[in-house]
Amino acid sequence: MSATRSVEFDVKDIGLAPQGKQRIEWAEREMPVLRLIRERFAEEKPLDGVKLVACAHITTETANLARALQAGGAEAVLIASNPLSTQDDVAAALVSDWGIPVYAIKGESTDTYNRHVRTALDSHPDIIIDDGSDVVATLLKERGDQIKEIVGSTEETTTGIQRLEAMQKAGVLPFPSIAVNNAQTKHFFDNRYGTGQSTLDGIIRATNILLAGRNLVVVGYGWCGKGVALRARGMGSNVIVTEIDPIKAVEAVMDGFRVMPIAQAASIGDIFVTVTGNRHVIDGEHFSRMKDGAIVCNSGHFDLELNLVALRELAGSDPVTMRPFVQEYKLQSNGNRVIVLGEGRLINLAAAEGHPASVMDMSFANQALSVEYLVKKKGELPPGVHLLPVEVDTEIASLKLRALGISIDTLTAEQLEYITSWETGT
Ligand code: ADE
Repeated sequence: MSATRSVEFDVKDIGLAPQGKQRIEWAEREMPVLRLIRERFAEEKPLDGVKLVACAHITTETANLARALQAGGAEAVLIASNPLSTQDDVAAALVSDWGIPVYAIKGESTDTYNRHVRTALDSHPDIIIDDGSDVVATLLKERGDQIKEIVGSTEETTTGIQRLEAMQKAGVLPFPSIAVNNAQTKHFFDNRYGTGQSTLDGIIRATNILLAGRNLVVVGYGWCGKGVALRARGMGSNVIVTEIDPIKAVEAVMDGFRVMPIAQAASIGDIFVTVTGNRHVIDGEHFSRMKDGAIVCNSGHFDLELNLVALRELAGSDPVTMRPFVQEYKLQSNGNRVIVLGEGRLINLAAAEGHPASVMDMSFANQALSVEYLVKKKGELPPGVHLLPVEVDTEIASLKLRALGISIDTLTAEQLEYITSWETGT
């Protein structure tokens, strides 16, 4: 750990800051909504004196969120939300150019990752921005004495919200938590178009394979799965979807995809992408059935969707690294090679740069406004999972449209009256 501009930090190489700064400013050009929020925050200082921990993928887009929070008066400590997603130049620039304490190194071990979570909690935050709920879970498990200090938290992901809901059900969630992922201006765009594009970007950057004509299996047809399937079809893949939810399965069928169980898809797929938020959705029995050279990756939050322990057992030896983020396991039973990308961690952030700034603009507008909302409503919101008010969602979409130079219609007085009355029928 080192200190510069009198902040503590743990980053790979502070000398990478100039490149990081330039890339952060490049991303900012695609984040007009967050920029407007930052400008307002700079004038109004709604977060004056607020101590924040932000656990996020340390990317150029997150850096722009951190700038907005800092402009609002918050003192933020940033930590990685995944050991493989940090952009080291961005981490360096945040420390060196913005004086923000960052604890994040691409490729950090799980121990280092957990140590960073604890270091962040040592700063005694009022508000936690979480991505996967690891910080909130650590706080509950290990820092009971700090719970009373927390005004609230925000959560970026579907996975994290599932964990928060489990905490709420178990009666252990002691403060309000804003489910940022559930805002329409978050999951409609970030999960669908963001994951759709960045997942294919990660697969292509890692392997340089042609997607056209390949059987690409999407495991899970939530918003992320929909995005991956849509974009893979656009690249010419024959997309197969696997699901456990009958409604989502029907949706996939009517969207024009083949739907079948993973046990059947296992022997047909050339490329597999998991986006379920659940564990071992591709397990040993599925790896055993795969074609020689099948490529497998994950774009869900945690690295447990692929059972890599079972795969390692089937191989009987460690994988061979063929290229960065590409590891090949040779199965003992039939000699087939199964290729795993990004060690089963989010491929879009491990091998590429995550979602493009234009969608993160709306996600992080939601984060910034959620923090402001928690501060404004301090002491008023009951413990539990909350949504941001729908007007905030609509306002973010309106600002995005304005930034894109697109105008839309408004209801006439006659139309407004019609849709709000029950008397007029046919
Ligand atoms: N999650 C997915 N893409 C991201 C990005 N570019 N920055 C931060 N979090 C992300």
